[in-house]
Amino acid sequence: MSESHPRHTDERVAVVTGAGQGIGRAIAAALAARGVRVVVTDRNAETGTAAAKELGGEFLPLDVSDPRAVAAAADEVVRRFDRVDVLVNNAGIAHEDAALDVSDEVWHRILGVDLTGTFVACREFGRHFVRRRSGSIVNISSIAAFIGSNPEYHVAYDVAKAGVAQMARSLAVEWAQYGVRVNAIAPGRTRTPILDTVGMNDPQRMTQWIDQIPMRRLLEAEEIAAAVAFVALDATAVTGQTLLVDGGQIAQ
Ligand SMILES: NC(=O)c1ccc[n+]([C@@H]2O[C@H](COP(=O)([O-])OP(=O)(O)OC[C@H]3O[C@@H](n4cnc5c(N)ncnc54)[C@H](O)[C@@H]3O)[C@@H](O)[C@H]2O)c1
Repeated sequence: MSESHPRHTDERVAVVTGAGQGIGRAIAAALAARGVRVVVTDRNAETGTAAAKELGGEFLPLDVSDPRAVAAAADEVVRRFDRVDVLVNNAGIAHEDAALDVSDEVWHRILGVDLTGTFVACREFGRHFVRRRSGSIVNISSIAAFIGSNPEYHVAYDVAKAGVAQMARSLAVEWAQYGVRVNAIAPGRTRTPILDTVGMNDPQRMTQWIDQIPMRRLLEAEEIAAAVAFVALDATAVTGQTLLVDGGQIAQ
């Protein structure tokens, strides 16, 4: 994808969580390329600052598992820019464990970031969207919301991502009356650092993954980002949907 990012030719403001690297960074780049002013947020200040600088956006440190910090960030964005139009809840973590080995700590940590963090951000930014009677939220779910992952097992992640897909339906129905759209994108296996946590460096596992994907390749972060930008900015009649971007994996 082209790395030329026109600066704020559009007055809209978009916030992307977990945008310091991987899919989130590509989403921030895709929105910036559309001229939207992008607020890059991440719990990692180093990667977040670098991404924001490169994209001509702003960086706001934010750990989405801290509800008070999320509320403060929503207020800060509105105070600084006087508006917020798009929220992309991308921040997420994965942890591989057989179900019988999933500790309470791991369960709560995964759900705390991937599900609760996503909801709290919807609620806190949603206050501003509902007040302004406009806004577009795109939450990053996963193919793991629809299938039991195999050969890697991560039930907590799968359940969290299924919750994210349901959240789009529930919030879309409730907030349509306020002009607020809520959707999700469900990526298949995409080449980013998160795959390291579930076996990217294992050639045998890589072969198993590729065999499950009709397109016979991993997806690229830019391909997920293109779908996010479409749903966030262009698909003005689409709400409550979860769009699979999975190289055909679920279709087979
Ligand atoms: N890569 C894949 O194959 C894949 C597939 C389906 C869904 N996803 C989802 O896409 C999203 C992005 O994943 P990725 O592959 O780019 O992962 P990644 O690990 O490369 O990037 C995740 C980013 O989120 C940030 N982050 C993690 N926890 C955070 C927190 N509590 N608060 C704020 N930021 C936090 C990290 O610092 C990092 O910058 C995640 O929600 C992930 O579950 C990824």
